[in-house]
Amino acid sequence: MNAPAMQGLALNTPAYVKNAKLIAWVADMVALCKPEAVYWCDGSEEEYARLCQQLVDAGTFKKLNPTKRPNSFLACSDPSDVARVEDRTYICSAKKEDAGPTNNWMAPAEMRATLHPLFDGCMKGRTLYVVPFSMGPLGSPIAHIGIELSDSPYVAVNMKIMTRMGKAVFDVMGTDGEFVPCVHTVGAPLQAGQKDSAWPCNKTKYIVHYPETREIWSYGSGYGGNALLGKKCFALRIASNMGRDQGWLAEHMLILGVTNPQGKKYHVAAAFPSACGKTNFAMLIPPAGFEGWKVTTIGDDIAWIKPAADGRLYAINPEAGYFGVAPGTNTLTNPNCMASLDKNVIFTNVALTDDGDVWWEGMGDAPAHCIDWQGKDWTPAIAKETGAKAAHPNARFTVAAVNNPALDNAWDDPKGVAIDAFIFGGRRSTTVPLVTEARNWVEGVYMAATMGSETTAAATGAQGVVRRDPFAMLPFAGYNMSDYFQHWLNLGQQLTQSGAALPRIYTTNWFRKGEDGKFVWPGYGENMRVLKWMIDRIEGSAQGQEHIFGISPSYEELNWTGLNFTADQFKTVTSIDKAAWQAELKLHSELFEQLAYHLPSALTATKAELEKRLAA
Ligand code: OXD
Ligand code: MN
Repeated sequence: MNAPAMQGLALNTPAYVKNAKLIAWVADMVALCKPEAVYWCDGSEEEYARLCQQLVDAGTFKKLNPTKRPNSFLACSDPSDVARVEDRTYICSAKKEDAGPTNNWMAPAEMRATLHPLFDGCMKGRTLYVVPFSMGPLGSPIAHIGIELSDSPYVAVNMKIMTRMGKAVFDVMGTDGEFVPCVHTVGAPLQAGQKDSAWPCNKTKYIVHYPETREIWSYGSGYGGNALLGKKCFALRIASNMGRDQGWLAEHMLILGVTNPQGKKYHVAAAFPSACGKTNFAMLIPPAGFEGWKVTTIGDDIAWIKPAADGRLYAINPEAGYFGVAPGTNTLTNPNCMASLDKNVIFTNVALTDDGDVWWEGMGDAPAHCIDWQGKDWTPAIAKETGAKAAHPNARFTVAAVNNPALDNAWDDPKGVAIDAFIFGGRRSTTVPLVTEARNWVEGVYMAATMGSETTAAATGAQGVVRRDPFAMLPFAGYNMSDYFQHWLNLGQQLTQSGAALPRIYTTNWFRKGEDGKFVWPGYGENMRVLKWMIDRIEGSAQGQEHIFGISPSYEELNWTGLNFTADQFKTVTSIDKAAWQAELKLHSELFEQLAYHLPSALTATKAELEKRLAA
């Protein structure tokens, strides 16, 4: 008799679940975690409504005013559980070198021994939700399946929005299909009669990945990427390992379609570090001067990219929703996003207005009074006096992609879209020009590998400090970063041999500041001007100007219709300061020293070339 049967706990396995490995694993996890009940999510609307009501009854959700924000909810987390916890995130590969110097590592056996007592009985008094999900369109050759076991109904309803979640996943899995097992607990077992808190969590947290066995174990947090395990844990950390082994890419990239007035469409995948405006770029509305141009969203955060028989790279968005940063979003910065948030949204850690709606800093006029994300009274006067924020800087919305008015027709296409260009864009107030095209794939990989960015609120830690964030994957590469660079170089070589045109590679920096400390480039929709220049380059109609690091536009090459941006301002955002770059290259050297193990020699050679040109 297995352990749950001994406890008299039924697994409640639905008859349509026929995968023996899955059933055995659920039984094992139930035996370990000892929940009070097991519930298999079917992904139906009825189930979503029921679980949301359950969260309202438990005090985790507040239902928002249905006339202002139909079918929408607000959750406020424990103040200690507000962001991804990078210092508690581990890649437990068999060998330390395979996790590399940018990841926390512990030997798998040691980590298992650490986690076992924590997971033993961790779900007491709670329900274990079995959450079946597909990352990518169901059955797509680029998609993969995961099963998350979680004791958080908040996770179950968020996963319904963020993934293709539900019982159809079991049909794809069949009797012996593969899946990535993901176990999640808030780490707050309930004793008999103990009252639950609105946001259970534990101050001990572990976000653990075993790349060889493709497992994810998450303990102690209920928030975002720590708990919605399809997102960063699976779609980036585990999938980057799958991609390396199977010849594809799992990237921290948005995917957009851009169609010119003649109807010709291009696809661009862009990597920006967390909270650097990826959602804004993915939903960009072309400004005045770009009549007839259209930008459509395929994804806002993650891309899975595979080479196809025609030698091109095809990308899907493995997610089905957006888990975006709310503060700063408004009808000017991102009208499509604001329209997406009209209904059917889960908000987390924003403020509650007196008429039952939501508000966050940067949304528009502040309300005279609201309840802040910690449940306290908030007024503009209080904010002035104490600096209190109504919404947490990493407050989020969870919303289905289908809510987006700019959703691309091909967003759900199982074969994906062919990528024409990659963009890598850091947040840098100095040094890095507005846009540069790499002269070749290796130079592009170098640019991406050495990307630096000023840190933001998406992860805990100091903000505004420049940290190297190679490929915007620093917290997400699930294996040794230098091997990851090599994988990109290998793929470039493989594609070159197939004879197809490689996607162009660009770096951008929307965030350069003037002497007054203010941003010079207007950003948001105006980024279209840069995007069009990239397309002009692909089409061969823009010559660009070659400089030490690559090719950038001349002032005349950008379409300025509708924007008053002077040649002097352009110079401020594109100038290359030799001294700043000498200092910058020293930082590249420091990065390369850190990543010396397996660092591709092509990158050190590229650096030597840059240094030579800079010294000339
Ligand atoms: C995110 C992140 O939540 O990058 O997308 O942190
Ligand atoms: Mn992200």
